[in-house]
Amino acid sequence: MADHAAHIAVMHGVNLDQLGRRDPQMYGKLTLAALERRIAEQADILGLATSFFHTNHEGEFVEHLHSLRTRADAIILNPGAWTHYQWSIRDALEIAGLPAVEVHLSDVKQREPWRHVSVIAELCCATISGHGPDGYNQALVRLRDELGLRLA
Ligand code: DQA
Repeated sequence: MADHAAHIAVMHGVNLDQLGRRDPQMYGKLTLAALERRIAEQADILGLATSFFHTNHEGEFVEHLHSLRTRADAIILNPGAWTHYQWSIRDALEIAGLPAVEVHLSDVKQREPWRHVSVIAELCCATISGHGPDGYNQALVRLRDELGLRLA
């Protein structure tokens, strides 16, 4: 392993700042800030460093992905509805060129057909959907293993 803690960039897209008041049956009761705290704590236990980014603006999401190429080791992303149609985000993730895991709080495959499509899945080493906040813990473990394999 590297001599520094691997840096996982955690990105949330459109409408995820509304967690806590947005359909709690579907998305749970945690606010985005509380969810991020939980992810950071779990990452700490796993020996991983984290940074967090949220925006409701597609261009900002794309530009942040561009910036990660030299600043992070891996990405966890939940782009919200952009997941299902926003090809610019798919291309920016490809440009970032880092191992990535796609996470959704809800089980998108059990919801409306338009949510079954993911434009980013082919670029991600895993897609974790329907496990609520625990999905992010699973993503951290997956990326820790992935980085370990890549550095071995
Ligand atoms: C989501 C699922 C998306 O379909 C939806 O548009 C979201 C949240 C999730 O985390 O379950 O905004 O990504």
